[in-house]
Amino acid sequence: MTDLRFGVVGLGARSRIAQYAHRPGEGSEIVALADPVAAQRETAHKQYPDATTYADHSDLLDQKLDGVFLTTPDDLHEDPAIDFLRAGVAVFVEKPLAITTTGCDRVLQAAYETGARLYVGHNMRHMPVVLTMRELIQSGAIGEVKAIWCRHFVGHGGDFYFKDWHADRRRTTGLLLQKGAHDIDVMHWLAGGYTTRVNAMGALTLYGGIEDRLDRSGQRFAEFVSDDNWPPLSQKGMAPVMDVEDLSMANLLLDNGVFLTYEQCHYTPDYWRNYTVIGTHGRLENFGDTAGGVVKVWNSRRSGYREDADQVVEIPGSTDHHGGADPLLRPRRWQNAHVPGRRTRRCRRRVRRNDIAPKQRHPDRHPCAGPGSGRVLRQRAGPLSGVLPSRP
Ligand SMILES: NC(=O)c1ccc[n+]([C@@H]2O[C@H](COP(=O)([O-])OP(=O)(O)OC[C@H]3O[C@@H](n4cnc5c(N)ncnc54)[C@H](O)[C@@H]3O)[C@@H](O)[C@H]2O)c1
Repeated sequence: MTDLRFGVVGLGARSRIAQYAHRPGEGSEIVALADPVAAQRETAHKQYPDATTYADHSDLLDQKLDGVFLTTPDDLHEDPAIDFLRAGVAVFVEKPLAITTTGCDRVLQAAYETGARLYVGHNMRHMPVVLTMRELIQSGAIGEVKAIWCRHFVGHGGDFYFKDWHADRRRTTGLLLQKGAHDIDVMHWLAGGYTTRVNAMGALTLYGGIEDRLDRSGQRFAEFVSDDNWPPLSQKGMAPVMDVEDLSMANLLLDNGVFLTYEQCHYTPDYWRNYTVIGTHGRLENFGDTAGGVVKVWNSRRSGYREDADQVVEIPGSTDHHGGADPLLRPRRWQNAHVPGRRTRRCRRRVRRNDIAPKQRHPDRHPCAGPGSGRVLRQRAGPLSGVLPSRP
């Protein structure tokens, strides 16, 4: 078997996702690297010494690649993605697909017309905490979903999003898209609907007041990130252009009647996401979002707050690599990814098996999500199974 040949375009922090595709002699290999910054090329070349490096992604178009990891800044997804799709190369593009809806449509159109594979890096669909919540919902543990609330505490926000291109609205459209893309996608996935109405607000409430600014062009991300950068107002070397919100909240109404709220803050001491899903027959909530955390379900009766929930499910996976989600984005999966407007044989098979409850079935739902959920630590004995409505 010859190895699949992959390229990586954009050799910054997120390019590490490509490491899972580098298995020379075992199916796939990184053979080409592109980034305009020489220091980034040199660092990446140490990791992939047999790969050829280029300053411009267009040099990769005629390299007969099987696929490319596109890990450029958000505003530089659209055109390279279209170039590779038109060259017949499968594309793994990091989220967000593009920074405007027109840009997204252009990329989808190119994938549709060429039939080349396109996979958007929504790694949270492989996150064990998300899969655990989804399985509980689909098992009927809380009845029919009515509301999902997500609070996103972005503890490292000052370092990650306010010191480089992320802080510039022209390059991201804003952090509700750049950072919120994950949770907003997950909430839709859990709820099984599309948004029909939105209201939202946000502002630059803290970092905008810091006058110490620095152009970090050419610096590597690792050079300006430290857990010691606390408290938030003591941060130094912020981005010269900073016009995205550091505090925002959005309300969304879906076409199936589910209400969503999403809240994002970039200066909390802790970094994690807390979801609450409320159904017609109970509520679930995650405490911690990686290995060591739990998802609790209350569904047997009414009461005041009860720490001893009716069901407690351990979150499996790991504490890094997005809870263990990143290694699951391996080439074998995204080679099977959806081509817009088409279905792979594997998808058709799994949909036919009816593993998605009919009420929750949704055109946006990709059934090839990943492994199952965690160990049940506690399940209240007794009336639970009797009182739970069975799923249609
Ligand atoms: N799914 C996730 O969990 C996750 C996590 C982090 C980042 N991301 C996404 O990954 C992407 C990259 O983010 P990052 O944190 O690695 O940013 P980064 O700034 O660390 O790296 C971006 C790299 O792209 C290079 N670049 C700039 N213009 C280029 C061009 N025209 N051609 C090729 N390379 C170019 C830069 O020199 C830099 O090395 C973003 O879209 C971000 O949203 C996703």
